[in-house]
Amino acid sequence: MSTLTLMPSGKTLDFPEGQSLLQAILDAGEALVSQCGGQARCGACHVFVTAGRKGVSKLTPAENAKLDSLVGVGSKSRLACQIRSLGTEPVTVELLGALSG
Ligand code: FES
Repeated sequence: MSTLTLMPSGKTLDFPEGQSLLQAILDAGEALVSQCGGQARCGACHVFVTAGRKGVSKLTPAENAKLDSLVGVGSKSRLACQIRSLGTEPVTVELLGALSG
């Protein structure tokens, strides 16, 4: 079990091994749009993983390809729908809101 902190709200919640980051964010009541049903196609779930990057699953080829097509992508960029918790360390994610996609 590890924890997930969401910024800018500062909410902290449990982030058990195997859980989808997108689902955890939605369960926390945060507004994050999924337009493709979590298929790494829409890019609407773009977030920055600002801490604990070793606590989440690795970038997949599909995720990498989609990130390449988005504006505002940086070294901390991930697609929330493609991330699963490894349960090994606390993770902090910055939600990008209107900046996403
Ligand atoms: S929900 Fe569409 S890319 Fe993540």
